[in-house]
Amino acid sequence: MDSISITQPDDWHLHLRDDDYMRAVLAHSAQRFARAVIMPNLKPPVTTVEAAQGYRDRILAALPAGSSFEPLMTLYLTDNMRPAHIRAARASGFVHAVKYYPAGATTNSDSGVTDITRCFDTLEAVADAGMPLLIHGEVTDPSVDVFDRERVFIERTLGMLVQRLSHLRIVLEHITTAEAVAFVRSAPDNVAATITAHHLLLNRNAIFQGGVRPHHYCLPVLKRETHRQALLGAAISGSPKFFLGTDSAPHARHTKENDCGCAGMYTAHAGIELYAEAFDQAGALNRLEGFASHHGADFYRLPRNPRRITLRRRPWPVPQDFAYGEHRLVPLRAGGEIGWSID
Ligand code: NCD
Ligand code: ZN
Repeated sequence: MDSISITQPDDWHLHLRDDDYMRAVLAHSAQRFARAVIMPNLKPPVTTVEAAQGYRDRILAALPAGSSFEPLMTLYLTDNMRPAHIRAARASGFVHAVKYYPAGATTNSDSGVTDITRCFDTLEAVADAGMPLLIHGEVTDPSVDVFDRERVFIERTLGMLVQRLSHLRIVLEHITTAEAVAFVRSAPDNVAATITAHHLLLNRNAIFQGGVRPHHYCLPVLKRETHRQALLGAAISGSPKFFLGTDSAPHARHTKENDCGCAGMYTAHAGIELYAEAFDQAGALNRLEGFASHHGADFYRLPRNPRRITLRRRPWPVPQDFAYGEHRLVPLRAGGEIGWSID
């Protein structure tokens, strides 16, 4: 198959940052995806409906002329969030989910949740509002090996959450392990997961290819090949529990090429094309549409997109970097080639 036409996809996990940085990256996503779930880990985090509205307005104002891209806003769960905040979020009509970062787990997660068992009344309100809870599923316990943090989160926290809040819809975000795939598969239908393109295409050797590669460092960190195979198996399985979330996470070049480099890969410049590569390599292009364009919308109870896009097997060169406010941004595959293009 050298071309494939699919329903226009959505990105169910995207970091756009704000202001000049947001304006530098937004078009890449808007050219490909009809909608995207916008992560709330700004500085300060998006913890109120008012902040989400302001952020949404800035995104809409920055869209290229004629774009109908729709940002689906999220609220950042904190220890102090109350059920009333959740009800206000639901009533807004533009907040579509609540994001749970264990405090300290990743970029700008300092205000995240310190003890999820103290949030149960708020989580009940999330469930009653019919909004998904999006989970960064890693423990922050420094004694746990960085490659085990997702597995241990599932063991220590996620199983308990799914049992205690059986009517809460949960998306385990950017899963990276065979254990996460197994957990989501065997959980009830209210539990789903997003998978990034980079976790489908790369294993942890990519972090150390001939030297340390800061642009291949993200969280959750890349895992060994057996886990990549498990993720690929889930993505191409046709199961509606697995769907696309790029986790495109821009950071200025100097903050990644640093003696304490930031976590995050920038993939929005090829947000759907990289998935086409992964599905093509697995001989499963026929499963791309469900994963990229149907399962997420169905889980979020939003209509599937009416438009279609066409992807072609037509390689294109990736720039070394992009302008990013006053800085530069290094995309995945910088200076290399992407095998698929969109019309
Ligand atoms: C994300 C970021 O930079 O905001 N980084 C990452 O490595 N994925 C945060 C996140 O989603 O964990
Ligand atoms: Zn993310």
